[in-house]
Amino acid sequence: MSNPITEQAVADAVTAALAAIDAARDSADLKAARAAHAGETSPLAQLNGAIRELPGDQKAAAGKLVGQARGQVTQALAAAEERILVAEEQARLAAEAVDVTAVASRWTAGARHPLSLLMEEMSDLFIAMGWEIGEGPELEHEWFNFDALNFDEDHPARAMQDTFFVEPAERHLVMRTHTSPVQIRSLLARPLPVYVAAVGRVYRTDELDATHTPVFHQIEGIAIDKGLTMAHLRGTLEHLARAMFGEGAQIRLRPNYFPFTEPSAEMDVWQPNAKGGARWVEWGGCGMVNPNVLRSAGIDPEEYQGFAFGMGIERTLQFRNDMNDMRDMVEGDIRFSQQFGMVV
Ligand code: DAH
Repeated sequence: MSNPITEQAVADAVTAALAAIDAARDSADLKAARAAHAGETSPLAQLNGAIRELPGDQKAAAGKLVGQARGQVTQALAAAEERILVAEEQARLAAEAVDVTAVASRWTAGARHPLSLLMEEMSDLFIAMGWEIGEGPELEHEWFNFDALNFDEDHPARAMQDTFFVEPAERHLVMRTHTSPVQIRSLLARPLPVYVAAVGRVYRTDELDATHTPVFHQIEGIAIDKGLTMAHLRGTLEHLARAMFGEGAQIRLRPNYFPFTEPSAEMDVWQPNAKGGARWVEWGGCGMVNPNVLRSAGIDPEEYQGFAFGMGIERTLQFRNDMNDMRDMVEGDIRFSQQFGMVV
């Protein structure tokens, strides 16, 4: 029997094995190459098996030849395995990669608060009628907040509003409880006639709940001229009501008491488009400016008369937009403001 273990046969087996190993692109290819060229039925394994059949004097040389070939194939397999594992690991990492250096988008679109928008809209309405916009400080002197508005020293009306008095008491400073002190400031600062609207923040010692906030906003109006009557007051408020609640809105005045007006009225508005159906809601206070208020500002009540009104901005927003919890307005959650876009 001739010796099947020729150099050529071994070299052919090695060449085929190396070609297959080299061509392997992934673990599955490599597994197949290993089975075909280093497995039990591979040509090299068969050649190895044939050594046993050889005459004794040929075994050593054949063994060396086949052994070297198998070693070469084993090494090539190990190198390919390393190459494929690294490549597969890299592909996996690339697929899972998160670019930690990428700049996150931290800016979300903001929104103006609906109360700010509403105050601007109301101010614009008065500017369009030729009125001026007045201002006053939030930390106000008691004289402007109460005395000049005809609240007696110990008039119960002074206790009607839960006031934040600011220490030291002898300075007589309060956080203004209403925008009405702007009436006096406007009368003192401007020549007559005066048509002034003022919007702003006011303070009362109320607990925060669904219908009260210790800080809220009001709009105030005062008009002092010759010959003004309650009809002018009505017309002005009706115009404001229609702008706020739609063309079908109406107002209703009910007798009431305020120290700074005489006669005084509570004003209700008929809200035709309310969500739960048309309804009357209590909206604010108004009246003809009390002669004592005019005298406080050095104006002769025989010569000049006028009207004033004031209402809450939060209440207006609440009615208009059918909100049942005022706390939403003070929490500062951007999602609340975003619902309104840029118009209320
Ligand atoms: N200042 C009053 C309040 O805060 C509201 C008010 C009522 C304002 C009548 C006025 C007015 O100008 O005439 O309760």
